[in-house]
Amino acid sequence: MKSNVRIHPSILNADHSNILSEIERVAKVSDFLHLDILDGKFAPNTSFTWEEAKTIISGSSIPVDAHLMVIDSDAQGPRYAEAGCSSVSVHVESTSDIKNTIKNIKSNGARASLALKPSSHIEKYIDHLDEVDMFLIMTVEPGFGGQSFKPDMMEKVSKTRQLIGNRPIWLQVDGGISKDTIEIARAAGADTFVAGSAVYKADDPASMINVLRALAEQTLPNPIR
Ligand code: DX5
Ligand code: ZN
Repeated sequence: MKSNVRIHPSILNADHSNILSEIERVAKVSDFLHLDILDGKFAPNTSFTWEEAKTIISGSSIPVDAHLMVIDSDAQGPRYAEAGCSSVSVHVESTSDIKNTIKNIKSNGARASLALKPSSHIEKYIDHLDEVDMFLIMTVEPGFGGQSFKPDMMEKVSKTRQLIGNRPIWLQVDGGISKDTIEIARAAGADTFVAGSAVYKADDPASMINVLRALAEQTLPNPIR
């Protein structure tokens, strides 16, 4: 997909009993598939078991972007990379050795990403700017699809874009991304957009992805101050 933005549909709220066909509905127009892994401890929800995740990773026709919302990220990050994910995001709040975990994810062949909950500050993680492939700024509290986008996170997105500078680091936003919010996040500097309920609640999920992509592509990021 030739584009300066990426759209990653989240299957958290798709039909889990038919998950591979749910993926196929969006595969042709998506860049990566966003796979949320929730262990019920890091955030108050569960999603896919390890067996289900492996079926999704091996069955998906598009690369998988795993978002681990688990308490043992140091162990789980490399495990998901080894299982075949193309990108693995671990939360800074549940990673005790960020440098090593990033290294172990990358050495298992995946892009490595650091995810931040709304209350976490990006400034604390500038030491990792030359190690990560992506930052994931959460625009809702981790746990559930269908929550409202937090516009107050845009300051963090802009700050992160500024810190990234010329590095080829992707900047992902996750939570409440829809036709009404994607331009706001793009203007703040995001280039990689997770969309769950906006996509799977639409009558035609693939068309919705095209709409989201067009809106993001036609929005210019605000100049960095
Ligand atoms: C929330 C997950 C999100 C979620 C997004 O913890 O990380 O990826 O599926 O869903 P929407 O787009 O509905 O907010
Ligand atoms: Zn997610």
